Amino acid sequence: MQDFVYYNPTKVLFGQDANAKIAPLIAQEGIQRVLMLYGGGSIHRTGVYSQLVRSLEENGVVFVECPGVKQNPLLSKVEEAISLVRERGLQAILAVGGGSVIDSAKAISLGVLYDGSVWDFYSRAAKPSKALPLYVVSTVSATASEMNSTSVLTNETLGHKSAVTNDLLFPRATSIDPSVQSSVPVRQTVNGGVDAICHVLETYFDGTKDVELQMEYSEGLVRSIMRLVEALLKNPCDYQARAQFAWASVCALNGTTWAGHLSRGDFASHAMGHSLSAAYDAIHGETLSVLMPAWMKFVMAENLGAFSRFSERVFQESGGSREDRAAAGIEKLRGFFASLGAPTRMRDLGVPEDALPRLAADATRGGPVGTLKKLQAPDVLAIMQAAY
Ligand code: NZQ
Ligand code: ZN
Repeated sequence: MQDFVYYNPTKVLFGQDANAKIAPLIAQEGIQRVLMLYGGGSIHRTGVYSQLVRSLEENGVVFVECPGVKQNPLLSKVEEAISLVRERGLQAILAVGGGSVIDSAKAISLGVLYDGSVWDFYSRAAKPSKALPLYVVSTVSATASEMNSTSVLTNETLGHKSAVTNDLLFPRATSIDPSVQSSVPVRQTVNGGVDAICHVLETYFDGTKDVELQMEYSEGLVRSIMRLVEALLKNPCDYQARAQFAWASVCALNGTTWAGHLSRGDFASHAMGHSLSAAYDAIHGETLSVLMPAWMKFVMAENLGAFSRFSERVFQESGGSREDRAAAGIEKLRGFFASLGAPTRMRDLGVPEDALPRLAADATRGGPVGTLKKLQAPDVLAIMQAAY
């Protein structure tokens, strides 16, 4: 086990009355004027909007609305919201939605207090030094952005999708009411499950020795998420499955899996996926159901022990050599994604084959990606070709 610092200051309010607690908490913290950021129409259809508006008014918190955050959220929307916060003298951001809304809110919280373009933080031209307070009402579980310090944004002018991670980006508080997720479309439930599983796997294979609890915890997370997504496809209104899935997906990327590990994770599959999203507006979870198994196949020789262990513990594979078991586990994972209806081939995402070299170059524009095996553009191209 490696030395580590574990820090996660986000207060989590969880359960069927959680969303009613966020406005009183904002008011208690002395905040009177917030930007309420959200996506399309789902918060109106679920009743989350009317409940929050009532609760903000009852608690004397003035809010200015900013709807319209898209999946694969855009820098231009963030810039619009930054101007609004400045013009209206708002003190904090209240994000109501999923990863796209929360990540945009994190960007806004940084950008309001910075003179240059907020993109500087995503391009590594600058490091964040201050941020407005951020509060979250989570309406769809997948990314764990509601309890982590990462934001992922697309600069549509440059055609780049990039992430920034900084302690300033932890939400002050997050409410998670799983009952509002009954309306999450099947495709998004599947994407959320794929994303959460891949978050665990990004760390699991990194080859750290003597992290037995984290390995077992990760295997338990993957097995639980698999069962819960299957249960939700049978019954989207199963509250207990929604609740367990909501917490499992948070735990998949809130720092608990990588404590004591050599790194926070490999994230080469994510970097490759972000290139697809930037170029083709591909949905995040779908980039991962396509690329993660191909990445696993490409790098499994680097840590056969972990890959065969994954296969044994998650898919009960027992026969053959370690190589056989490792490969069988990868095929089982791909088969599981396919059984949910997730795409498993890059061609299914509408990516033309002749775009692969350009995508590989984009994914490695900041240097090699990954930690288990540092991947250069030709490696990324080989993975993408295998996934095509
Ligand atoms: O826009 P609305 O109408 O709200 O609809 C949304 C959206 O279409 C819908 N939705 C949300 N709550 C709902 C609902 N529909 C019905 N009922 C509800 N209760 O869900 C759709 C997807 O929303 P989105 O926020 O895009 O999904 P997700 O949470 O999967 O976020 C994906 C984004 O997060 C980034 C991804 O790259 C992508 O841009 N990630 C963020 C990470 C982080 N901050 O740590 C890590 C991840 O690896 C990921 O990169
Ligand atoms: Zn992800």
